Amino acid sequence: MAEQHISGLEAPRGLNVLVTGAAGGMCRGINKRLGLAGHTLLCVDLDLARCQAAVEELRAEGITAHAFAADVTRPDDVARLRADVKDMVGDVHALINAAGILDRKMLLDHDVDSFSRAININLVGPFALIRAFAEDFIAANWGRIVNVSSIAGTTGYPYPSYAASKAGLSNLTRSLLVDFWGTGITVNSICPGVVDTPMVIQEVRDQVPNKVPTGRIVDPDEIGAAIAFLLTDDARSINGADLVIDGGATQVFRLFEPARG
Ligand SMILES: NC(=O)c1ccc[n+]([C@@H]2O[C@H](COP(=O)([O-])OP(=O)(O)OC[C@H]3O[C@@H](n4cnc5c(N)ncnc54)[C@H](O)[C@@H]3O)[C@@H](O)[C@H]2O)c1
Repeated sequence: MAEQHISGLEAPRGLNVLVTGAAGGMCRGINKRLGLAGHTLLCVDLDLARCQAAVEELRAEGITAHAFAADVTRPDDVARLRADVKDMVGDVHALINAAGILDRKMLLDHDVDSFSRAININLVGPFALIRAFAEDFIAANWGRIVNVSSIAGTTGYPYPSYAASKAGLSNLTRSLLVDFWGTGITVNSICPGVVDTPMVIQEVRDQVPNKVPTGRIVDPDEIGAAIAFLLTDDARSINGADLVIDGGATQVFRLFEPARG
């Protein structure tokens, strides 16, 4: 059967996908699932050595991946990254903003500098990457942007810089729909709950059976699978979503202990 072409709105095959925070725990799952879907990975992290190690692991699985060092908060790094990536693979088709920090400071532990740092990494960084690649997506009339937000951005949370930055990131996501109106570009957020990465401390892991209706911690692969779907043409009408992947944790309000079988 002949391939159906919707002019200018069809995904290129084997996307060039740029992933920030690519050396991190969640990106183990994200990179793997995107790589197994046949995409070329442009792995970006502050920590080049860990990023290169992650790329080596992907290559050992037959995935095409390249490592780049960049601090997403530095405009000169982002500009250099865009140029380097273009030299290496040409256009970027999809951007996954996963770089982030969780600064476990409550109000009185914070000062303006520490609060601003978290906002810079978790919110200004994704903005900088989107701004850097937006014109390329518009020129191609196609693109996928996925911002890794958090359920901590959907409710109050003990660590205000994290909660505020992620709430901002989810609303940045929705706001950009206007800029990309009428194009084949979609912008979505993922809001993970407790995911099995080094970011999650033991105290939180211990609460999972009582706080998460599925009774289990989310595997980074599950986040990768959801993002892989968002990059497909089948997901072209999913736009501006804040996709919660938390085992139902934010959907229940419990004043009682769950029944156990
Ligand atoms: N682990 C969870 O349960 C969970 C839940 C919800 C959301 N998230 C979000 O998922 C994303 C990934 O988290 P993770 O658990 O993999 O954490 P992680 O700490 O393992 O990975 C984060 C990565 O971001 C990189 N990074 C930090 N600052 C950077 C900067 N300025 N420029 C470039 N890279 C930078 C780090 O070097 C690290 O490799 C984060 O945005 C986090 O907020 C995590």
